[in-house]
Amino acid sequence: MLFLLDIFRRIYRRIISFLMNIFCFGLKYKGLRLGKRVKLVGKVTLSDHVTIGDDCLIRGSVSIGENVIIAPNVEIRSTPSAIGIGGDCTINRNSMIIGKVLIGNHCLIAPNVVIVGSNHGIEKNILIRNQKLTLKGIVIGDDVWIGANTTIIDGVKIGDGSVIGAGSVVTKDIEPYSIVVGVPAKIVKSRS
Ligand SMILES: CC(C)(COP(=O)(O)OP(=O)(O)OC[C@H]1O[C@@H](n2cnc3c(N)ncnc32)[C@H](O)[C@@H]1OP(=O)(O)O)[C@@H](O)C(=O)NCCC(=O)NCCS
Repeated sequence: MLFLLDIFRRIYRRIISFLMNIFCFGLKYKGLRLGKRVKLVGKVTLSDHVTIGDDCLIRGSVSIGENVIIAPNVEIRSTPSAIGIGGDCTINRNSMIIGKVLIGNHCLIAPNVVIVGSNHGIEKNILIRNQKLTLKGIVIGDDVWIGANTTIIDGVKIGDGSVIGAGSVVTKDIEPYSIVVGVPAKIVKSRS
């Protein structure tokens, strides 16, 4: 009996989600799966077959490629810039992508990753909160794997095929196919 109830509940959720998608987006995006309490605010452009988990917030000028999976509780906020995420990427739980960020195709972003493509000004004698944001921008190539709890600092370019070890802080550019770990992240190996 409980089993049947579960099946009915799933079918009911699918129908509601399908109707919500039609109501919110027309039939603009094929295969779109939106979780509960998802907020898409501003100029958010999705491609086909995108999945966005519960409680995600996507705000500003953000474009998301085909077959991207965004796990629950991810925040992607571009203001006052733009964020682009290529196709076939996965962004895991609780990660944040903020500021000016460009991510290639086929990237894996583990849980609790923070990618911040902006900095506060830090001149003396003015409150930091009152200083202008600077935005150099972060560029992440194709096929990059970013380990859990990593932070990527503004201005950094991460080459194609690189691996960033769990808990790293990336402060400098990373050559393609490097494996980097630590704080600050340093090359330990190359993918060969
Ligand atoms: C980066 C990583 C892929 C390296 O794996 P590997 O190629 O097998 O590397 P090794 O285990 O041989 O480690 C090489 C050296 O780096 C060190 N190292 C590995 N990962 C590290 C990390 N995250 N932080 C600090 N040092 C690390 C090792 O201790 C070793 O040091 P040593 O040569 O002094 O002994 C792996 O350690 C890692 O961090 N994976 C991410 C896991 C994750 O976040 N998963 C989320 C699921 S999406």
